[in-house]
Amino acid sequence: MARAPVHVGILASGRGSNALALIRAVERGYITGAVIDVLLSDKPDARALSMAEEHGVRTRLLEPASGQTREEYDARLLSALEECGVAPGKNPLVALAGFMRILSPSFVGRFSGRMMNIHPSLLPAFPGLRAQEQALKRGVKVAGCTVHFVVPDVDAGPIIVQKAVLVREGDDLDALSARILRQEHRIYPLAVKLYVEGRLRLQGGRVAVG
Ligand code: GRF
Repeated sequence: MARAPVHVGILASGRGSNALALIRAVERGYITGAVIDVLLSDKPDARALSMAEEHGVRTRLLEPASGQTREEYDARLLSALEECGVAPGKNPLVALAGFMRILSPSFVGRFSGRMMNIHPSLLPAFPGLRAQEQALKRGVKVAGCTVHFVVPDVDAGPIIVQKAVLVREGDDLDALSARILRQEHRIYPLAVKLYVEGRLRLQGGRVAVG
């Protein structure tokens, strides 16, 4: 029997190159069995919004209102996702792709095991902002990127896929970031594909890939 499609909602605040990699992966049939129902952004000028529109993906702009708490914002986020078909109970997958907001534990709980993030370091090294800069400053010889399930603690969830990237002598931030980004665009679609194919099993805080 055919599997019910996974309903994907992408959350992005900026450039949207990882969002584009996911959209293209579905367009080209690398990922089958998933529909991208919406790309949602908190930033009106996010390139991700116009890019998604160019690809025929529905978009929603959800700007935080002044004085709004994190929980209030996340309640709006949940409603917007549900309106677009990305709803708990309906085989949802939320893909964070450069979404620059910390999500409340209750929102994260609604999508437990059904929300992924991409981070430009080999976690658990260099969580948080400017991971590539942290890596350069620390002088690591190997950097990379990670796709992980989202838990309430930032960049701390079970690791799904990682890719290492060599740091070259003389690398500056732009050079290293670009080399990592190329790998991000490969491993995020891979992680979503594995998820959609039912090949990821969460066991005791670790992900087994079948
Ligand atoms: C990427 O480096 C991603 O790893 C991090 O934010 C950046 C988003 O870039 N979470 P883009 O908007 O996907 O181009």
